[in-house]
Amino acid sequence: MKKLIIDCDPGQDDALAILLALGSKKVCLEALTVVGGNSGLENCYTNAKKTISLANKPFIPIYKGSSKPLVQKLVTLEQVFGKSGLQGSEEWPLLDIQTQKKSAPKFLTDVYHTSSDISLIAIAPQTNIALAYQKNPLISQNIPSLTIMGGCVFPEPIHGLMGNISFDENKTYAEYNFAVDPEATQIVFNAGIKKINLIGLDITRDVLYNQEVDKSIRLINTLKSHLIADMLSTIGKEDEEDYKNLKQSKTDPVRAIHDAVAVAYEIEPDIFKTEMLPLKINMTGTKGRTIIDENGVMVNVIRSVNKKEFFDLIIESIKNL
Ligand code: BDR
Ligand code: CA
Repeated sequence: MKKLIIDCDPGQDDALAILLALGSKKVCLEALTVVGGNSGLENCYTNAKKTISLANKPFIPIYKGSSKPLVQKLVTLEQVFGKSGLQGSEEWPLLDIQTQKKSAPKFLTDVYHTSSDISLIAIAPQTNIALAYQKNPLISQNIPSLTIMGGCVFPEPIHGLMGNISFDENKTYAEYNFAVDPEATQIVFNAGIKKINLIGLDITRDVLYNQEVDKSIRLINTLKSHLIADMLSTIGKEDEEDYKNLKQSKTDPVRAIHDAVAVAYEIEPDIFKTEMLPLKINMTGTKGRTIIDENGVMVNVIRSVNKKEFFDLIIESIKNL
């Protein structure tokens, strides 16, 4: 079984990503590391604990990391994820999960000092990973692959933009995970990691949750499947607006589930088409934007995914929980 560590900021799509890993028979989740992002660090940590509790796997360690980006101020997204960061999970259980003394960056530094067989998945701002690398740059040699949900290499299919967040008056866009901590992203890209797989917004905005997916999850008809569908079908203001033209009915819960696509890539890479491209992280103007540049780092960029097979993986995992 492939071993995984997931660095996350739950977030509904992070929660689904974690559950996808927990229900899969092909991967084994070794630990979660948490960073402030979609919501403040404490909320994201609680939401990680709730997700592990829902799957009844309280033995999986959760390490708390950085509460803010390396340089910039943290921008949280209540308009997408709700006040708690995991709106819709109010009925989920919360088990008494042991608090880990090590910080997330220290854990990552220690684990990759001795192990070289654990794939790393990054579905949040890259702050924890950059801090771990700064503590000990040699760890990059022991990360067999880093799969990132972040960036936007080609225009995304909903609005034709290069991201989902804009911090300037000119309304130039970059993708959230990269834009929130561009300094960390740049450090990680240049860390010399053997293989970086990138799932950008241009791919994740093409694989949306909607009433049909909601129905097939509820058809599993377990308590967990209903609790997961309840969480996913609670749509924040921003997704309501972003995906309004794709709704088949007023209540169609169309939303993005970005981070689950990154975990699916680790579970079943064969359902994806990819292309090696040289990428740079823009550090002036629209900071954090991904740019194709011949002097950039060679990255395995995901170009498309077989949607049916992707949703089959999700259903299969939820059945197994
Ligand atoms: C990414 O940013 C976060 O808001 C989501 O959880 C996902 O990781 C999408 O841009
Ligand atoms: Ca995330």
